[in-house]
Amino acid sequence: MLKRIPWKKVWVVLLVIFVLIQFKTVDKTNPELIIENDFLEMTNAPSEVVELMHEVCYDCHSHSVRYPWYSKIAPVSWWMKGHVDNGLGKSNFAEWSGYSSVEQDSILTRSSRLVGLKWMPIITYKITHSEARLSLEQREMLIDYFDSIER
Ligand code: HEC
Repeated sequence: MLKRIPWKKVWVVLLVIFVLIQFKTVDKTNPELIIENDFLEMTNAPSEVVELMHEVCYDCHSHSVRYPWYSKIAPVSWWMKGHVDNGLGKSNFAEWSGYSSVEQDSILTRSSRLVGLKWMPIITYKITHSEARLSLEQREMLIDYFDSIER
């Protein structure tokens, strides 16, 4: 009763779909960076915090997003862009000056909590970025810094 699956055709169809979706590209240009509006700049962060946050937060929460080679390939490109847009929508450290003090307070409180819970950086990011698997000391450093900001 069972019909044989025509694997060859299936693969050809999949290949065609894969090629076609490559035409739907995403805009990956970073908006212009205005350094005076940046969180780390405005709060005069120590260099170890600057380095760490650039490494593990700024790929999604700033205008300094570094896109890896595989981000050029759909559907990975859509998925990654979604993360960046979503992360930026929640908190953009590059436009810190645009937030009210209530918003800043809320982002800092959440940042502390999420880093403490190991929810940030998000888990899928940690798979491909080993530097984002933070040690206890690194997490404490970030949390102490977020908590130390006057608000
Ligand atoms: C790979 C992308 C990525 C990285 C890296 C990343 N985030 Fe996020 N972040 C997101 C996304 C996506 C969301 C939205 C999550 C959601 O709504 O479920 C988010 C949400 C947040 C929020 C808002 C949460 C809320 O409750 O509204 C804060 C604060 C935050 N991230 C802080 C950080 C900090 C601090 C770091 C670095 C230690 C970091 N993130 C690293 C992608 C990222």
